[in-house]
Amino acid sequence: MIQAVIFDLDGVLVTTDEGHYLAWQRVASEAGIPFDRTINQRLRGVSRMESLEILLERAPREYTEPEKRALADRKNSFYRASLEGLSPTDLLAGSAVMLRGLRARGVRTAIGSSSRNTPTIVDRLGIRNWFDAIVDGNDVPRSKPAPDIFLLAAARVDVPAANCLVIEDAQAGVDAGRSAGMNVLGVNPHYNLNGPDRQVPSLADASVDDLDEWFGLAPAAP
Ligand code: BG6
Ligand code: MG
Repeated sequence: MIQAVIFDLDGVLVTTDEGHYLAWQRVASEAGIPFDRTINQRLRGVSRMESLEILLERAPREYTEPEKRALADRKNSFYRASLEGLSPTDLLAGSAVMLRGLRARGVRTAIGSSSRNTPTIVDRLGIRNWFDAIVDGNDVPRSKPAPDIFLLAAARVDVPAANCLVIEDAQAGVDAGRSAGMNVLGVNPHYNLNGPDRQVPSLADASVDDLDEWFGLAPAAP
């Protein structure tokens, strides 16, 4: 039975996945590196520096470590500028209803995100008290596809991994959920993810009753 649901943040709860894409696209175009939405799928869920390494696979020259740091910082400053206008209207359809419904059933809720900008985003959206735990890229050295973020979230909500459901839009996140020994719901309107138990286009396409039917929900022990 599922006693806790761990949500990815960017691209599951909020539209910030597009901000990541546009920021990398700007960095790539300034540096003359080919980049498009298909390559961007591999950056989803992956840490900032690992994303940069994927981007640089197509670079026409080698980059030194300080140059890489500067590119990552530049991407983050473009990205953070995009967060300035962030508001609750940027929450993705279905997220508020699902979180309310889960909590009403006594199911614990958490965020498990690779993003070090998670605290800023959560505060701008005013959603901190929707969750029993928030774990992000600041909390663990290894980000997705390693299971660490999700395992720490499960520990913080005090629910065994086998009783957790991960909701993810990224292949790296599906892989992280699987290697944590958790159930996984994929959410992606454009790409078929490899390995989730089920996939829907968006959270608006799965009700809490659907989650109960597909995975079995139960209140967490007090
Ligand atoms: C993930 C995003 O949530 O966070 C990735 O899907 C991003 O695209 C990663 O690279 C790290 O984000 P940040 O905000 O720490 O650069
Ligand atoms: Mg995501």
